[in-house]
Amino acid sequence: MTVTEAPSLPRDIGGKNVGRPIDRVDGPAKTTGAARYAAEYPYPDLAHAALVHATVSRARITAVDTAAAREVPGVIAVLTHENAPALKPPPAVSPLNLSTLVSGTSVNYLGTDEVHWNGQPVAVVVAESLDAAREAAALVRPAYAELPAIVDFTAHEDEAAPQKGNMIMPGGARKGDAEAAVATAPVSVDLRFTTPPYNHNAIEPHATTAAWDGDRLTVHDSTQNIDWLRRHLALRFAIPLDAVRVIAPYVGGGFGGKGMVWAGTIIAALAARATGRPVRLALTREGVYRTVGGRTPSIQRVALGADADGRLTALVHTSVTRRGHVGGGPEQVTSQSRHLYDAPNILLEQKIVELGLLSNTPMRAPGESIGTFALESAVDELAGRLGLDPIELRMRNEPSRNPIDGKRFSHRMLREAYALGAERFGWSARTPEPGSMRDGRWLVGMGVATAYHPSLQFAANVTVRLSADGTVLIRCGMQEMGMGVATAQAQIAADALGVPFTAVRVEYGDSTLPVAPGAGGSMQTASVAASLLAASEKLKRSVLALARRTGSPLRARRPEAVEARDGGLWEKAGPGETYAAILARAGREHIEVAVGADRGVGAAVGQARFMGKVLLDRRRWVKAACGAQFCEVRVDPDTGEVRVSRWLGSFDVGTVVNAKTAASQLRGGIVMGIGMALSEETLVDPRNGRIMNPNLAGYHVPVHADVPPIDICYLDEPDPTMPLGLVGIGEVGITGVAAAIANAVHHATGRRVRDLPITLDRVLPG
Ligand code: MOS
Repeated sequence: MTVTEAPSLPRDIGGKNVGRPIDRVDGPAKTTGAARYAAEYPYPDLAHAALVHATVSRARITAVDTAAAREVPGVIAVLTHENAPALKPPPAVSPLNLSTLVSGTSVNYLGTDEVHWNGQPVAVVVAESLDAAREAAALVRPAYAELPAIVDFTAHEDEAAPQKGNMIMPGGARKGDAEAAVATAPVSVDLRFTTPPYNHNAIEPHATTAAWDGDRLTVHDSTQNIDWLRRHLALRFAIPLDAVRVIAPYVGGGFGGKGMVWAGTIIAALAARATGRPVRLALTREGVYRTVGGRTPSIQRVALGADADGRLTALVHTSVTRRGHVGGGPEQVTSQSRHLYDAPNILLEQKIVELGLLSNTPMRAPGESIGTFALESAVDELAGRLGLDPIELRMRNEPSRNPIDGKRFSHRMLREAYALGAERFGWSARTPEPGSMRDGRWLVGMGVATAYHPSLQFAANVTVRLSADGTVLIRCGMQEMGMGVATAQAQIAADALGVPFTAVRVEYGDSTLPVAPGAGGSMQTASVAASLLAASEKLKRSVLALARRTGSPLRARRPEAVEARDGGLWEKAGPGETYAAILARAGREHIEVAVGADRGVGAAVGQARFMGKVLLDRRRWVKAACGAQFCEVRVDPDTGEVRVSRWLGSFDVGTVVNAKTAASQLRGGIVMGIGMALSEETLVDPRNGRIMNPNLAGYHVPVHADVPPIDICYLDEPDPTMPLGLVGIGEVGITGVAAAIANAVHHATGRRVRDLPITLDRVLPG
C-alpha cells in the first residue's frame, strides 16, 4: 500500500475537466433502463423470496405453522429457525475494529428462536414467482411466548448511559465550567429539543440476487460497501474470501441505509444455499422499515450564555439517543458544537439508551443533521434575546482555532460563505421583527443556519491502465449510488494524465476490483482521488522511463520536468510525444500501474498504516465542510401550513470536481432536510415497538411540490491538507436545514417549534 501525501491542487494538473459540470457517464444507461440494479439480474431457474416478520417485540418462537404456506402452488421452501441451514453467528461488535461494525444487527437470522424486535424476520418463503412467495409468506403462522420489552424512547430517557467516543466519532467534551457560566451570563437561553425517528426511503428498496456455484457465492446487492459485505458473507457462510463475489455497479440511493449488512442480504444467500436455486429477495417498502435501521430519535438540550455584546461565554449541548439491544450505536449529535462557536466554557455530553427495537443506523450526516437543528435553533433564539441579527451573532463568535481544543482548522471559510449567501439571497431585505413580513395572506419568514460536516479519508486501491490507442482504464472497487463517482474520477484522471475526458473509462462496483472504501462518511471521492493521483504520477514515470529506453525525443530525466497534456508527455516548452507513439515504438499494448492494489495481509497492514496516518493528521487539523443555509418560508396564519418558498445554500466544500453532480448532492441533502424538518417521522407504537407507518403513504417524504428552486453556490477553495483539496460533499447539504426552517417559521409567526417535524398543530398558537 502506497501512502499518498495530499497531491497537487487542480490548477497544477491543468484543471481542464475538474470543476466542469460534465454530464454523468452513467446517465444514458440509467435513463434508458440499460443499467441493471440488484433485483434485475436474470438467472435461469431464478426463484423469488419473501420475508415473514415478527409481530411482537420480544419473544421466543414456540412453533411455526407453515402448512398453508407450503400448499401454495409454486412454493419451493419455507425456511424457519427449525429447518434453515446453520450460519456462523455474526461477530461480536468492537468499536476498535471497524470491520466488526458491518453487521446491522447481532441476530443470527433463522438460526434462533429468539425475537428481538417487532418486525424481525422469522421465516422466508422461496417460490417460483414473487406473487407465490408473497402469498405464502402471508400464510405463515408463528406462535410466540412473549417476553417483556422496553420500547418507548421518551419514557426511558432517564436510563441513558454516557456514550464513549471512538476513532471516528467523538463522545463528550468539557472546557471550563459551562453550567456555571450559563447561570451567571447576562443573556442566556436553556432549551430542550426533540427529533423523531426517521427511516430510509431510497428509490430502490434493498434487494439481493444470490447465486451459488458449489461453494462459491455471487451476490448482486444494493449495498454501499461491497468489500464489507464480501467479508461478512465469507465469515457467515464459512467460505474463503475469494469465494464470494459482490457485484453492485448501480445502487438506487443509500444515504447510510445500505452501509451495513441487513437481514435481506443474508437471508437471500441462505435461501439460495438451502434450495440450490439462485434467489432474488427484493424487500417491500415495509420490509425496509422492518429490517433496516433508521435514524435514532433524539432529545437534546442546548444552553447558551452571552455577554451583552453577544459574545458567547458558555455553550452546553447534551443529547440522548437510542440503539437496539441487538445493534446500532451512538450518534455524534454534539459534534458540530465542538467546532462552531468560540465560547470559553463548553460542555458536551452524549448519552444513549438501549431498547427492544431494531438497531439505529447512519442516515445522511448522522449526528450533525439533528445536532445542528438544536444548536442552530438555539443560536437563533439567543440572537432574538440580544436583539442581534442572527448572522451577526455568528460572526461575532466565529473562532480562529477549534474552540474545544485549540487545534487549527485546515481550512474554514464560514464567514465568506455567509457573506456570499446573504448577498445572493437578499438577506438585507429581512425586517427583524417576527411576523413583520407578509405576502398577501401569507406570513413570510427568512431563516439561516450553519451547515457543518467533518471530513474524512480512507485507504483506497486503484489500478490505472494506459493503452496504445490512448485510452485509460481505471479499476477501483468503489461504489456508485447515484452521486456520479465514475464521472468525477474520470475528470480527475483526465486532467492528471492529460487525456480527453472521453478517453477515460472507470470500472467500479465489483469485489473483483481493487478494494476501495464504500460510499459513506462523505469520504469516497477524496479517498479514491488520493490513490488515483498517486497512480497517475506513477504511470507518468513508467511511461517516461519506457520512452527514454526506446529513443524518445523526450530528454528530460526528472518527471517533474515533463507535463502530461495533449494525450502524451511533453517537456515544458520542449519536445514530447503522445502516449500512443511511445507505446507503439516500444511494442506495448498497454502499460498498467497499481496503487495499493495488494490483497491479504499486505492490504491489512497497508490499511492500518494509512488509517494511522489519517488519525494522526486529525490530531493536528480539524477538517470539515461547512456552509450557510438560507431559506424563506410562507406560513398560512389560519391553518399553520408551512411552505418553503426559496432556498439558497452557500458552501465551503473545498475543490468542486463536477459542478453539476456537486450541486445535485448538496440539493439532495437540502431536500432530505426539508422532509426531516416538515413532514417525515417514523411512528413507533409505544406499547409494542411496531412501526405504524412503514410506507410512503404514512411516512411523508417531500415531493416536487414541497421543494422550491434551490440555489447552490460554493467558494471552490481547495483544502490545502486534503487530496486535490477535496473535503466531501455528500452529507453537509442536509445539516442546518431543519434549523433554518424552524428559524424562518419563527420569523414568520413568532412561534418557536423545538420538536420536529414542524407540523401544523405545532405552528398554530396553543
Ligand atoms: Mo452515510 S450516513 O455516511 O451513507
